[in-house]
Amino acid sequence: MVIVLDFGGQYNQLIARRVRECNVYCEVLPYNTSIEKIKEIAPKGIIFTGGPASVYAEEAPHCEKEIFELGIPVLGICYGCQLMTHLLGGKVTSATVREYGKTEVTVNAKSLLFKDVAETSVCWMSHTDYVEKLPEGFEITATSASCPAAGLEMPAKKLYGVQFHPEVVHTQEGTKMLHNFLYEVCGCSGDWKMDSFAEQSIKKLKEKIGDKKVLCALSGGVDSSVAAVMISKAVGRQLTCIFVDHGLLRKNEGDEVEKIFTEQFDVNFVRVNAQQRFYDKLAGVAEPEAKRKIIGEEFIRVFEEEAKKIGTVDYLVQGTIYPDVIESGLGKSAVIKSHHNVGGLPDYVDFKEIIEPLRDLFKDEVRKAGLELGIPEKLVFRQPFPGPGLAIRIIGDITEEKVKIIQEADAIYREEIANAGIDRSIGQYFAALTNMRSVGVMGDERTYDYAVALRAVTTTDFMTAEAAELPWEVLGKVSSRIVNEVKHVNRVLYDCTGKPPATIEFE
Ligand code: XMP
Repeated sequence: MVIVLDFGGQYNQLIARRVRECNVYCEVLPYNTSIEKIKEIAPKGIIFTGGPASVYAEEAPHCEKEIFELGIPVLGICYGCQLMTHLLGGKVTSATVREYGKTEVTVNAKSLLFKDVAETSVCWMSHTDYVEKLPEGFEITATSASCPAAGLEMPAKKLYGVQFHPEVVHTQEGTKMLHNFLYEVCGCSGDWKMDSFAEQSIKKLKEKIGDKKVLCALSGGVDSSVAAVMISKAVGRQLTCIFVDHGLLRKNEGDEVEKIFTEQFDVNFVRVNAQQRFYDKLAGVAEPEAKRKIIGEEFIRVFEEEAKKIGTVDYLVQGTIYPDVIESGLGKSAVIKSHHNVGGLPDYVDFKEIIEPLRDLFKDEVRKAGLELGIPEKLVFRQPFPGPGLAIRIIGDITEEKVKIIQEADAIYREEIANAGIDRSIGQYFAALTNMRSVGVMGDERTYDYAVALRAVTTTDFMTAEAAELPWEVLGKVSSRIVNEVKHVNRVLYDCTGKPPATIEFE
C-alpha cells in the first residue's frame, strides 16, 4: 500500500485514483498522521500532495521531519515538494509571477522517476512559490523556463519531488512518472484491483458494523445501489433498504430495482408505493423549485414513516461519492437548483452515524466496484437520474398522464440509443415533456398534442455540457417511433443548447 498525505490540494483524490489505476492500493491520510501510525501501516511509498499554503506561513501544514528517515520512498508534489525542501534545509522562495497551466518541462532521463519519459513534454503547473536552493545531497532532475528546480531528488534516500502535477491529465507523461515512482522507486508489485477494494471494504464494514442495524435509502441509482450491496455483503439482513417509488421513475424502473434487490441480494428490501401521494401533492404545481421542494419534503415524510417502523438504527448508509464531496466542499457557488437527493435525510431519522463506503471513489470506479460485486450491468451503467426524477423533465404541472407519456417516449429514446451502440458515449440523454401543445395531422385527422424534447449531452463533469451530435438516422427513427407509439405526442424536438446557458435537465 501507498499513502497519500493530504496537504489540502485540490487534486488529492486524483492522485489516489491515479495510484489505484496503476494497480496499487492507496489511502489518503491527513498531513499530520503520526510517525507511529505510518510505521504501523508500513507503506511502500508516501506521496505528499500539493496545497494552497506557503511553507513559511504560520498555519502551514507540516509533517514531522522524521518521516524522511523511515527509509520509505517519498514523492513530494508541488507544495509537497516545497515542504520536503524546506524541512530538509533547502530554500523556498515566492516568485513574482505565478506559473500556471501547461508548461514545457525538460527532464533528466537518468532519474528513475523519468525512466522512458520524453525529454521535453508538457506538464501542468500551478504555483507561486518555488525551490530556490536544494537541500544538501539533492540534485535537479527537471527544469522549466521559469522554474529552475521543477524536479529534484536524492535517490540514495529515495526522496523525490516535482513542482508540477503528474496526476493531472494535462501532464502528458504524468501517469508514466507516477508509475515509475510506484514500480521503480517503491518496488510495488501491482497486484491490487478493484475487487480487492470491494473485498477490503466489506471486511472493514463487517468489523465496524458488528451486529448493529443499518438503514439505507435506496434510489436505484448506481451509487446508492453499490453502497447497499457492499453493506449487504458485509452484514446481510442487518441492512434494511427503503426504496421509495414516488411515481416519477423511468418506465419499469421500480420493478427492475425491486427484482434485483429481492432476487439477487440478501437484504431486507422495503418498497414503498407512494406514487399517488406524490401526484396528489404535486397537482397543479408548475413552478420548478416548488415541485422540487414538494418532492424533497414528501420523500422525507415517507422515508421517516418507514424508518420509524424499523425503530432506532445504528448507521445510515449514503452513496456519497468523491465528486459529491468536492461539490459540497466548495459550497460557495450560487444555488442554481435545490438538489434533492436521498442523501439529505439525516435530521429526520433516528440513527447514530453515517457510513459512506464510496466516499473516495470516482464514478467510473464506483461502476467497476459494482461489477465486482455482481450487480447487473444494466444497473451499473444506468444513466444518471436525478432524485426528483421525471418531475424535472416535465415542464409545467405534473399529472399521472404526463408521467406515462414521458416514460414511454423516454423508453423508446433509450432503446434506440442503445440499438445504435452510442449509449456509453453520451454523458446523459433523456426525453422531456414540454408544456407546449400544437397542431399536427395524423392520418387525415387534425391533432392538438404535446411536443416531446429530446436531450443528449456530452460532458465530463456535469458542470458544463455540450449538446451531443446524434446521428440524424437515430433522431429520425426515435421521432417517428415516438409519434407513432406514444399517444398525445405529435411533435419531437431536439435540444441543441449547451450548459451554460441551459442546464442539462429540462424544468
Ligand atoms: P443540471 O440540470 O443542473 O444537472 O445541469 C446537472 C446534473 O445533475 C443532475 N441533477 C440532479 N441529480 N438530484 C440529483 O441527484 C437532483 O436534484 C438533480 N438535479 C439535477 C442532472 O441529472 C445532471 O446529471
